[in-house]
Amino acid sequence: MLNVVIFGPPGSGKGTQSEKIIAKYGFAHISTGDILRQEIKEQTELGKQAKAFIDKGELVPDATIIDMLEKKLESLTTAQGVIFDGFPRTVDQAGALKKMLRKRGEDVNVMLNLEVQREELIQRLLKRGEVSGRSDDNLETIEKRIRVYEEQTAPVIEFYKAEGSYHAILGEGAIDDIFGRISSAIENAQ
Ligand code: C5P
Ligand code: MG
Repeated sequence: MLNVVIFGPPGSGKGTQSEKIIAKYGFAHISTGDILRQEIKEQTELGKQAKAFIDKGELVPDATIIDMLEKKLESLTTAQGVIFDGFPRTVDQAGALKKMLRKRGEDVNVMLNLEVQREELIQRLLKRGEVSGRSDDNLETIEKRIRVYEEQTAPVIEFYKAEGSYHAILGEGAIDDIFGRISSAIENAQ
């Protein structure tokens, strides 16, 4: 079982590259952002709470996200691996994930940090906003999300550097070239 964290700022290509990883390696995909958007669509209590944070470009509190993630992890039937996409978003979430996996005798094997320049992130997200219908893909919220990333999420990098599972991946250029770099990192970890 390989546990892969796909990490990076908003617009760095986590979702796009996750789909390619799933297609090639058959891993299960846990995207906390997708789960939250589904909860909003179904108008659940969790969805109602989450919407206020998402629309402002802020993070849903750790306790809520960690609980949601643990339930999702428990519901997974055996997979060859799992990709965690959009989680952990804080150092506390990274610690909670480590604990959860330890209970199963597992750990995060690889953390892939997709590195993309700020201007490129904004351009990609504005372009996505034209078709995604996502309430948070507008310039003001995009800038807020990048700020929240820098302040609350980027420290997660140091956590995984200390763990020894950190890999920087150049997240610019052709999608298939980026995927080639990701594949090498995954195969070296297997
Ligand atoms: O991961 P994604 O970019 O799809 O997340 C969209 C939004 O969902 C984030 O900007 C944030 O408001 C919320 N989110 C969160 N905590 C997570 C994942 C997503 O608060 N772990
Ligand atoms: Mg995503």
